[in-house]
Amino acid sequence: MRSTDDGDRARAAYVGEVLGNFDGVLHVHHEGEDVLMYPALAGRAPGCALHVAQMLEHHRQVAQLIEGIEPVRRRWMETAEAASREETAERYEELSSLLKVHLRREVTEVMPVVDRVLSEKEMSAVAQHGVAQFDRKFLVSYLGMVLATNPPQDRKELFKEIPPPVRLAYRLVGRRMYRRQYAELFPGRRIPETL
Ligand SMILES: [Fe+2]
Repeated sequence: MRSTDDGDRARAAYVGEVLGNFDGVLHVHHEGEDVLMYPALAGRAPGCALHVAQMLEHHRQVAQLIEGIEPVRRRWMETAEAASREETAERYEELSSLLKVHLRREVTEVMPVVDRVLSEKEMSAVAQHGVAQFDRKFLVSYLGMVLATNPPQDRKELFKEIPPPVRLAYRLVGRRMYRRQYAELFPGRRIPETL
């Protein structure tokens, strides 16, 4: 984002749109956890009540930050002005530090209990929540990013859990779209490996 020159509205519009899509996925993912995962967890593992409350509070803070980012991001997309670029970037930095804390704690403190008390079917319902509302092409290119951010071993495990038609779509178009998007977002950087 900070690599976008002042006044480069085409790039601002592109980068801003990608970021907005990510915000949307994040929001829907949290919504799925709020509705389908945390209530079940609280009911079946009452000892986790405090963790659940903290995780839900993180989700609320994330939603609030995303809501605050939206108009500033839109302004930057339209104007490509340095001031709104800087403000958008700072707000995303804030979101990113909150997410780091949240994800670390969710993975280490909550997921082991979730694995114990929720069935596989329930977990896949959480993962599937809201997915239908996104453009399929966007989702398969997003998958490339998810694969890239996981270590190689996890990558294979993760890919196995994805339905075969989605895997095929990823191989046909998703990987290429991911690579193109990465190159566009981070000119000159090496594109991280996927599958
Ligand atoms: Fe979460």
